[in-house]
Amino acid sequence: MTTVSPTPDTTPLKSTITTAKPAEAPSPPPAMRLRELAFGAAVAAAVRAAARLRVADALDETPAFAAELALVVDTEPAPLRRLLRALCCYGIFSETPEGKFVHTEMSRLLREDDPNSLRYISLWCTEPWTWDVWPRLEDAVRSGTTVFPETFGKGFFEYLHQDAGESAQVFNRAMTTSSVQSARDVAELLDLTGVSSVADIGGGQGHVLASLLEKHPSVQGTLMDLPGVVARADARLRDGGELADRVRIVPGDCREEIPVGVDLYVIKNILEWDDESTRRTLRNVVEAARPGARVVIIENLVDDTPSMRFTTAMDLLLLLNVGGAKHTRESLVSRLSEAGLRVGEISPVNAYLHAFECRVP
Ligand SMILES: C[S@@+](CC[C@H](N)C(=O)[O-])C[C@H]1O[C@@H](n2cnc3c(N)ncnc32)[C@H](O)[C@@H]1O
Repeated sequence: MTTVSPTPDTTPLKSTITTAKPAEAPSPPPAMRLRELAFGAAVAAAVRAAARLRVADALDETPAFAAELALVVDTEPAPLRRLLRALCCYGIFSETPEGKFVHTEMSRLLREDDPNSLRYISLWCTEPWTWDVWPRLEDAVRSGTTVFPETFGKGFFEYLHQDAGESAQVFNRAMTTSSVQSARDVAELLDLTGVSSVADIGGGQGHVLASLLEKHPSVQGTLMDLPGVVARADARLRDGGELADRVRIVPGDCREEIPVGVDLYVIKNILEWDDESTRRTLRNVVEAARPGARVVIIENLVDDTPSMRFTTAMDLLLLLNVGGAKHTRESLVSRLSEAGLRVGEISPVNAYLHAFECRVP
């Protein structure tokens, strides 16, 4: 904790580094488990509240009472204690026998400064708009399409960039966190022998591109994404950045046109939207690329993941917001082949991602 004013109910703080392992709770009987699952929104809301309040950032290596933390994060002490108690049930924070709170491995991941921080991912998964679309899952399952235009009067990305600036920033930061963590793996995997130019289409703020350019000093790079996203591109790629003289930034909609001619196109985690957008994007790549160009598609696969609960939840959210889906190996190969790409090797990038090596005929 950064600043703590002593309160009457505190005992002296021990100065110990403590990461508690949550006690193994016995598995509840099915009737209780189902009740817990039906109340899953409460857990998501509690994670969001803790992330927004920065409780994990406020708690350092010293066990602390809720009242002490409340002073730092500016809340009422009793409800903060209730929030922490709820989170402790899921192994996010732990309570000592004397009633102080300590970090667990999971609560540490809510800290913004943790090298593997999931703070922005946690916020992203629980953004305000998600609470408007989840109740309409039944409709989406009936119709098989997004409920976003009916709920918000426009498509998801339009809404995000025109009406939900804060959410758009959370999205960009969440993507950046996961990109920074996977960019190294992508740069490690991709052999750029014979490649002098690479483009990342829907490349977000350009972390994957920057990692590739850093590793390959003679390669030129192009970053394409929506205007609002590339405007906040990684500082290394923007004017004055150390990679800027090898970078072209292309703001635009890849479903309309991809005005980029390069040796290698990387498309990572964007073909999860509706099929028409996937078709148009792949068609635009095939039209823009010269014969023989390489196209590497990188995706999380729903049929080959260590985390089916997370991936299937994201799959449902994609149905709701963009009418999209996480791919299976087969569904992705079929979309790529339909677009006229020759699909080659499929290799794991890391535990969560797979790369599909393709060629333009
Ligand atoms: C899930 S993120 C993936 C970002 C990045 N490729 C990565 O793996 O970190 C999807 C990206 O697609 C971009 N995007 C969405 N619609 C787009 C469009 N029509 N044209 C270009 N990019 C788009 C989003 O702005 C976002 O950066």
